[in-house]
Amino acid sequence: MEKTYAVAIDGPAGAGKSTLARLLAKDLGWYYVDTGAIYRTVAYYLRLLGISPRDADGAARYIDEVNIQITYDPQGVQHMWMNGLDVTEDIRTPEISQGASLVSAHPPVRRALLEMQRDLARRHNVVMDGRDIGTVVLPEAAVKLFLTASPEVRARRRHAELAAKGKKDAYDQVLSDLLRRDAQDATRAIAPLRQAPDAVLLDTTGLDIPQALAAMRAIVKEKTGL
Ligand code: DC
Repeated sequence: MEKTYAVAIDGPAGAGKSTLARLLAKDLGWYYVDTGAIYRTVAYYLRLLGISPRDADGAARYIDEVNIQITYDPQGVQHMWMNGLDVTEDIRTPEISQGASLVSAHPPVRRALLEMQRDLARRHNVVMDGRDIGTVVLPEAAVKLFLTASPEVRARRRHAELAAKGKKDAYDQVLSDLLRRDAQDATRAIAPLRQAPDAVLLDTTGLDIPQALAAMRAIVKEKTGL
């Protein structure tokens, strides 16, 4: 099999990972894999079954029942399929954000999704974003980035994103949800949110999208020559 390249991008919620990872992937002509969307799909599935995201036994019992597929439309947008149903839009709610953070702490859930993520990276050049990509999923990635930004800037971005979809969540609520999720993701026992020792830290607080993208592109060039 041909050698594939991976850019692993980790960081807290709202650091700009998905926007920047998508643009970087487009620029490189590689696949963009949003791994948070996979955890969100699991959270959505368990919620449909009426299982609490805190219920570790419930998650363990049903994780093998769900069929999760990832496809890409001609615009390169990643679509998430749950048992044949396109749930791409349904998984983008604050409730599912929180649910995904909770279900992602259960070891059987992480185990089940690990191989799916590694398989994508074996078959394609990928820009993959999440919380444990550089540390656990793709420890051999050619490029590792850890994106961060101040909590206020991250909450402002998330608030604007929700507003653009017509959702009127209060800024304070968005900020407190984000902080709670960061704390959960960073303190769980398995694969916590952490910067890999060999990851490059990029603070996007004072950067706009083109500036952050240029910085990332330069790091990829330096590490891979591509
Ligand atoms: O990136 P996101 O906000 O869509 O992710 C939703 C949740 O999924 C996040 O709070 C924690 C979990 N997650 C994870 O544990 N590991 C990943 N690689 C990606 C996401």
